[in-house]
Amino acid sequence: MSNIVVVGAQWGDEGKGKVVDLLAEQSKWVVRYQGGNNAGHTLVVEGRKVVLHLVPSGILQPGCTCVIGNGVVVNPAVLLEELDELAALGHKVSPDRLILSSEAHLILPWHLALDRARESALGDKRIGTTGKGIGPAYEDKVGRRGLRVADLFDRDALASRIREVLPDNNRRLTEWYGEAPIELEQVIESLAPVANRLRAYSRPSTRLLYEANKRGERILFEGAQGTFLDVDHGTYPFVTSSNTVAGSACAGAGVGPTVITDVIGIAKAYCTRVGSGPFPTELDNALGETIRAVGHEYGATTGRPRRCGWFDVPMLRHAVMVNGMTELALTKLDVLSGLGPIQVGMRYRLGGDVIEDVPAGAAALGRVEVDYDTLPGWSEDLSQVRAWSDLPVTCRYYVATLEREVGVPIRLLGVGPGRESVIRREPGST
Ligand code: GDP
Ligand code: IMO
Ligand code: MG
Repeated sequence: MSNIVVVGAQWGDEGKGKVVDLLAEQSKWVVRYQGGNNAGHTLVVEGRKVVLHLVPSGILQPGCTCVIGNGVVVNPAVLLEELDELAALGHKVSPDRLILSSEAHLILPWHLALDRARESALGDKRIGTTGKGIGPAYEDKVGRRGLRVADLFDRDALASRIREVLPDNNRRLTEWYGEAPIELEQVIESLAPVANRLRAYSRPSTRLLYEANKRGERILFEGAQGTFLDVDHGTYPFVTSSNTVAGSACAGAGVGPTVITDVIGIAKAYCTRVGSGPFPTELDNALGETIRAVGHEYGATTGRPRRCGWFDVPMLRHAVMVNGMTELALTKLDVLSGLGPIQVGMRYRLGGDVIEDVPAGAAALGRVEVDYDTLPGWSEDLSQVRAWSDLPVTCRYYVATLEREVGVPIRLLGVGPGRESVIRREPGST
């Protein structure tokens, strides 16, 4: 039985949601293990688009139970809104289909206020966060000042805990950033109805997954963000505040490393990034704008335009290394149709010398120069292609080149946003 981690291999938005939805058909469980509603995972099923932020992307597969793991930071009101939106689309999610780990940490109003206040204070040095309170919530978790989902259900304990942690946060908000303080009573009042609705979904989830694995039920672990937004392995400080790499699935879902058998990395056939930070293969020009327009590269969470650039081989090799990636899925191949010759970032140079690894930290990565290879493009529309052999020969050459350079098999290709828009491929095919 294979238990697979699906992980973003670039800077997020690689199409993880679509691939998880597809693989979830063969899985009994889908678990989100980190991040929060900074994520926006898009599924297009029977022509209808659903964007998920906290609910795992297995939710549209009826045989699948979804878990929001302990490693996720949860804004409870946002989760309820998402459940309401799903219900309005005809996907009512009952508590037997969605389990919210009682150990997951909460995103509370001061986290949102601090995230936004800090970003605006940083001015042109800002990270470009999603403004959803992710960083401050993880800071409180690690600082042992956080509140967890289970705390929602004991009103007295909740009030006394908020009373403990709020003054410190309010001092920062008012004295450091000149913002209005958060009112204690208002927070407590607003959490009461939310707690009532979420109670049915909340359970400890580790034993459930342990028993499921023992029964041989397949578990899919859904990563959010991407490898280069990882707080350790990404372009620090322009990163998110969690470990996004595959290894994080263990701690964030409460399973041991021996449970995981495969790691599928997801990469676009080019590269995008939202927010600030270095981007060696960025196309800050008309071609970049064309890719943005054709690929609809606007954030699923914030609507911000995504920066676009060429596929970056050194980055992907690094992602293979830090995730233990066993295979790669390449999405949005269709977007490259008609662009003319396609460039691939093959090697990095720092001070004129070729370097093997992606340099740690944003400053050094900002200084690398990229050696490109130019590959022939193709003009055919790929959106209806479903067989590898029906792809243009130059397109097959592009995929085979990336596979050779990155060093892991590419079995799945995306040629459109829909669940059906995939091509399965025998690794090594040319
Ligand atoms: P995620 O955060 O990794 O789940 O990715 P997002 O949903 O934020 O962004 C991926 C975008 O690309 C979404 O709009 C998807 O519907 C779309 N998408 C996914 N795969 C493909 C593909 O193969 N081709 C095209 N054209 N769009 C795709
Ligand atoms: P999915 O799961 C792309 C980026 C933000 C910012 C940085 C820190 O849809 O791939 P944060 O709000 O997390 O403190 O912001 O991380 N970011 C994402 N970029 N996709 C995401 O998620 C992202 N989640 C956060 O733009 O640069
Ligand atoms: Mg996204």
